[in-house]
Amino acid sequence: QDSIYQEVNRPQFHYTTKRGWVNDPNGLIFYEGEYHLFYQHNPYEKEWENMSWGHAVSKDLVHWEELPVALHPDKVGTMFSGSAVIDYDNTSGFGKDGKPAMVASYTAETGERQVQCMAYSLDNGRTWTKYANNPVIDSKEKWNSRDTRDPKIIWYAPSNHWVMVLNERDGQSIYTSTNLKDWKYESHTTGFWECPELFELPIDGDENNKKWVMYGASNTYMIGSFDGKTFTPESGKHQLGTGTIYAAQTFSNIPESDGRRIQIGWGRVAHPDMPFNGMFLLPTELTLKKTNNGVRLFSQPVKEVESLFTPVQQWSNLKSDQANEKLKSFYDAKQLRIKTTFKLSHATDAGFNLFGQRIIGYDMNHNTINGVFYSPEDMTSMELTADIFIDNTSIEVFIDGGRYSYSMERKPDRKNTEGFHFWGNNIDVTNLEVFEAESIWK
Ligand code: FRU
Repeated sequence: QDSIYQEVNRPQFHYTTKRGWVNDPNGLIFYEGEYHLFYQHNPYEKEWENMSWGHAVSKDLVHWEELPVALHPDKVGTMFSGSAVIDYDNTSGFGKDGKPAMVASYTAETGERQVQCMAYSLDNGRTWTKYANNPVIDSKEKWNSRDTRDPKIIWYAPSNHWVMVLNERDGQSIYTSTNLKDWKYESHTTGFWECPELFELPIDGDENNKKWVMYGASNTYMIGSFDGKTFTPESGKHQLGTGTIYAAQTFSNIPESDGRRIQIGWGRVAHPDMPFNGMFLLPTELTLKKTNNGVRLFSQPVKEVESLFTPVQQWSNLKSDQANEKLKSFYDAKQLRIKTTFKLSHATDAGFNLFGQRIIGYDMNHNTINGVFYSPEDMTSMELTADIFIDNTSIEVFIDGGRYSYSMERKPDRKNTEGFHFWGNNIDVTNLEVFEAESIWK
């Protein structure tokens, strides 16, 4: 495709903009065959400034087409983060001639306060009209704080109303509305910061056993119940992932026949010599599963991601030094996916490096991966499974089927050192698979 996507440090299977800065994904929505990815964007410079909503669309969640900026700063303020819904019943009156409106809620940063606003589109997100009576919520005085932002709207069917989760000061507030314009404050849950999320998921796929998940920008979450007005936590706070991921949001309006809860996160990865800055991480499916430690959220790349990777080799039951030998022929790969299961045997810590950069450092003595607490399902097997996605500027790792995941910047390769390298006391590599990656820009 476009030569613009061929720069040396352009991620090849992660979405990036042609130019400018990006941060949070916004307004993620599926509608009429298209996934919409809006995002915090500075179209003019590589630094955070001039916040606008950039826009890209995809038919398969992996190949994206960048479209013109969707929301530009206006006389109220710059365009901060938010979400989008389809107003099928035309509760807002924004729809026209039977065409339901795609309605975006976003924060306008005025320089002095942060207020919540609405805009709508009648042409599948291509052009937008701002609501004439913006803002719809101004809660600065109520909270004695200017940190009131990032509205996420969902439809709560049992009560026939819209629900907005909003970051206010030290947590997530819930507002309700029947028309997307008039909002009533209902409740507040402390302990979260920025880009709130609230969604319901079945446990182990059982539609008769569902729980609500309250989720914040730093990838922390609580599990609980929700009655349309108040979230009641039934767990402590857990950490789904760590690393460069921030402000992940999930898609609205995924058809029931699909039923997945799909998220995209911002990858806080700097791109110093490139015309763009920042990137988006692989779309993942979020699920709730019972584990030995209780019900936990899992995150795994969506099945569409598989189409980008072709298996090239697979080995079973190697010792780590044999595995290291096998991987020598892949040292020059700029993009690669490696799946592996390794067993610590008689080592208490072991892991996997790329040119000296630690991709996995598992310490079973301290129950940590790369210094972050991790308790595997089976404490006695000492086995760990990892799905590792290596792109030009980033590495994403999904541990034990997505029970824990993390992302990191890929440091420039130091060609003279060890390449791919399992370390530990000659551990057992029970499975090792290598896949070639296909560029999404072709
Ligand atoms: C999170 C965030 C949001 C805000 C946006 C501004 O990264 O700080 O809270 O709306 O970025 O770009």
